[in-house]
Amino acid sequence: MIAYSSNQGDLDAEDLQGFFVGWPTPPTPEQRVEVLWNSYAVEFATDTDTNKVVGFVNAISDGVLMAYLPLLEVLPDYQGRGIGTELVRRMLDRLQHLYGVDVCCDEDVANFYGRFDMIKVTGMVKRSARLGPNGY
Ligand SMILES: CC(C)(COP(=O)(O)OP(=O)(O)OC[C@H]1O[C@@H](n2cnc3c(N)ncnc32)[C@H](O)[C@@H]1OP(=O)(O)O)[C@@H](O)C(=O)NCCC(=O)NCCS
Repeated sequence: MIAYSSNQGDLDAEDLQGFFVGWPTPPTPEQRVEVLWNSYAVEFATDTDTNKVVGFVNAISDGVLMAYLPLLEVLPDYQGRGIGTELVRRMLDRLQHLYGVDVCCDEDVANFYGRFDMIKVTGMVKRSARLGPNGY
């Protein structure tokens, strides 16, 4: 069974193995947990059979107007089971007091976010890390 939680303080570096598939410079386990601890809000999914974290989404925010969702990750073996949808649904529910919630994503994931009434806009980004295959 998959259980959902929003208490990022319960996460530690051991919980975040197996994510960031294909990233040219994936964050270290310590950086992953620090990112989530420092986030405005986190939703994560756990397989209750293994007690393993299998997906998460985080938000950074000013707490008044805007939030940005930098990361949404579901472990490859758990994709296609509705976990990503449930994580985003829960996060948007928590952020509904804000004026806006922004996401930047690859073209092939745009339809996924479209399910939540998100619309396409033009985005600009700056990255200091080594470039990945998509050029960012
Ligand atoms: C994107 C991601 C989080 C979706 O999680 P998931 O648990 O597999 O999503 P769901 O099972 O809720 O899928 C919902 C729908 O979106 C579609 N979908 C999911 N990921 C997709 C992708 N990368 N491209 C196209 N469609 C996708 C699924 O086919 C599914 O459609 P269906 O219900 O009609 O079958 C997951 O594929 C993932 O972790 N990908 C790698 C990281 C990533 O790309 N994150 C997004 C960063 S912006």
